[in-house]
Amino acid sequence: MSDCSSKSIYRFVSAKPEDISWFCQMEKMCHCDPWSRQELVDELRKAAINRSRIWIIKSHERPVGYIAFRLLPDELYVLKLSIHPEFRRKGLGKRLIDEAAAFARRRRLTRIILDVWIENAGAIAFYITLGFYSQSPPHKQYKYLVMQLPLRQRSIQN
Ligand SMILES: CC(C)(COP(=O)(O)OP(=O)(O)OC[C@H]1O[C@@H](n2cnc3c(N)ncnc32)[C@H](O)[C@@H]1OP(=O)(O)O)[C@@H](O)C(=O)NCCC(=O)NCCS
Repeated sequence: MSDCSSKSIYRFVSAKPEDISWFCQMEKMCHCDPWSRQELVDELRKAAINRSRIWIIKSHERPVGYIAFRLLPDELYVLKLSIHPEFRRKGLGKRLIDEAAAFARRRRLTRIILDVWIENAGAIAFYITLGFYSQSPPHKQYKYLVMQLPLRQRSIQN
């Protein structure tokens, strides 16, 4: 994970167990299907030992958003992406996806995938702006749309 430039007010850090209360608040604030405290504890544990990651983006040291993802054999699967309501539309969601994409490219993964609730029009618009698309209709029972972003390999420094 890269740090933002030295002039930037934003930086990325890996989540730690002591962030759990903040995560619980953010989950309730940002999602209609929030992870429970226990699910968060489990995800943090997985992030410590296997192919999962949870990164927080901080603004002036205040945590303002996060991305949680798994590394599958060929893909990066986004579990959660959340930006605090006061910090939306400042490009932070894009920064988190860009950072995850750079991380995935370094591991030669071919795409980012995720599920998004079909009534979450704002998030769908956000993902489309970033180049995500869906190849299949929403899942009829669960009402989630599977979206993907193919990752073209870039120059060696990526
Ligand atoms: C979806 C979410 C992560 C976007 O984060 P963000 O930091 O506000 O997004 P960005 O500022 O990086 O947006 C980049 C571009 O995406 C598009 N976009 C972002 N949010 C949008 C919205 N609600 N409606 C339409 N377009 C949107 C815009 O084109 C935006 O650029 P602009 O602000 O210059 O017009 C944020 O709204 C959020 O946390 N929502 C609640 C949780 C959620 O739904 N997560 C995703 C499903 S798991």
